[in-house]
Amino acid sequence: MSSETITITDNRTGKQYELPIEQGTIKAMDLRQIRTGPDDFGLMTYDPAFQNTAACRSRITYIDGDQGILLYRGYPIEELAEHSTFLETSYLILFGELPDAAQLAAWTHEITLHTMLHENIKKFMEGFQYDAHPMGILLSTVGCLSTIYPDAKRISSEESRRLQIRRLIAKVPTIAAWAYRHSIGRPYNYPDNDLSFTGNFLNMLFKMTELKYRPHPVLERALDILFILHADHEQNCSTSAMRGIGSSQADPYSALAGAAAALAGPLHGGANEAVLRMLKEIGHVSRVPDFISRVKRGEGRLMGFGHRVYKSYDPRARIIKRTADQVFAVTGRNPLLDIALELERIALEDDYFVSRKLYPNVDFYSGLIYQAMGFPVDMFAVLFAIPRTAGWLAQWDEMLRDTDQKIARPRQIYEGAAKRPYVGIEQR
Ligand code: ACO
Repeated sequence: MSSETITITDNRTGKQYELPIEQGTIKAMDLRQIRTGPDDFGLMTYDPAFQNTAACRSRITYIDGDQGILLYRGYPIEELAEHSTFLETSYLILFGELPDAAQLAAWTHEITLHTMLHENIKKFMEGFQYDAHPMGILLSTVGCLSTIYPDAKRISSEESRRLQIRRLIAKVPTIAAWAYRHSIGRPYNYPDNDLSFTGNFLNMLFKMTELKYRPHPVLERALDILFILHADHEQNCSTSAMRGIGSSQADPYSALAGAAAALAGPLHGGANEAVLRMLKEIGHVSRVPDFISRVKRGEGRLMGFGHRVYKSYDPRARIIKRTADQVFAVTGRNPLLDIALELERIALEDDYFVSRKLYPNVDFYSGLIYQAMGFPVDMFAVLFAIPRTAGWLAQWDEMLRDTDQKIARPRQIYEGAAKRPYVGIEQR
């Protein structure tokens, strides 16, 4: 029995139960010993949307939502955004420590080696409608990779898991870029392995007839910073989907396709696309007060604001705001920025938002940068999925090693009809 306990008294029977508290948590299964009736299998907790349930132990990402702190493996997001690269950060997230120079060189080489896609995948992608949403293309194509790599089913082999991790981190940007090229009707560009991870991605997106694509260093670095900021965010909706699907021992391509599907929704990775549409709809700074009033009347949400965990300024939003200035110095200022700044100014002074602790999240400014860099709004969630692939895979790998884990299977409170006999159609 741990030294900290909580005592629960059942007022109906007077019986007392002493439950251990470990790491600020009681085990839901410890409640099973409390029975609400002779046929009851034990007390359950009701927690729709998992607002107060820890579904795992993790060593990857730490968030303090009240203080606005985000750490990957203990390193503050601000320091990683300043000094690290996406590939180095993904190594850190996946393997727990920053790589030394030799490890980083080997990791970079391994990822670079795997950027090509099988030509059948290209044919598969060519089959999509000309106006297919790139996120739909991305998640279906990632799922399709499971048919190309049947060896990925060997999820208990560490060697196989590592190979699939390298393949996915390397190939998701290629799929993402080809989804974009498909949507604009241009030929797909093959990877250029002389370039950096983000430089090559920009090459696959934007190269036209030039013999060698040279990414703008400021934009290449800005994208790398955005990728660092999006690499992991503990047990969010898409990561929970990754763990949930992976818990059935599905291969990582299938699990990652499901995680990407979860990311596609407007309340998650689709939020920055929704922010841009909202800013366009507002259209002018003078219409901001009216828009805020509508939000307060419950006629819509201020997209890019609010977060399940952050109840203060999202630290990633602060870094993105700085990065935006560097990008706009190259691309020219995005005219929608003034509307965003005014929205933020008014919202942060308004009691509706202050009392509900609604602050800008990572998506409030990221769309403005992406748009200034030339990405259509349809690509925004795809740009989120590329770096989050590292986080999803780290969480999946951690889940498979965790001896506490089993197939995910929540319970329910049944409120439907009691048992009744079938009624023939003529009697209904
Ligand atoms: N605009 C206006 N009001 C809001 C907003 C918002 N963006 N977000 C929350 N609220 C209000 C709710 O109406 C509710 O008010 P009430 O108590 O009067 O009913 C209160 O704040 C609490 O909101 P919940 O919906 O209970 O908060 P929850 O934690 O479930 O939702 C979420 C978090 C989904 C992020 C929400 O804040 C939202 O919809 N934001 C806009 C979408 C967005 O930006 N998503 C990106 C999230 S970050 C990411 O995924 C990368």
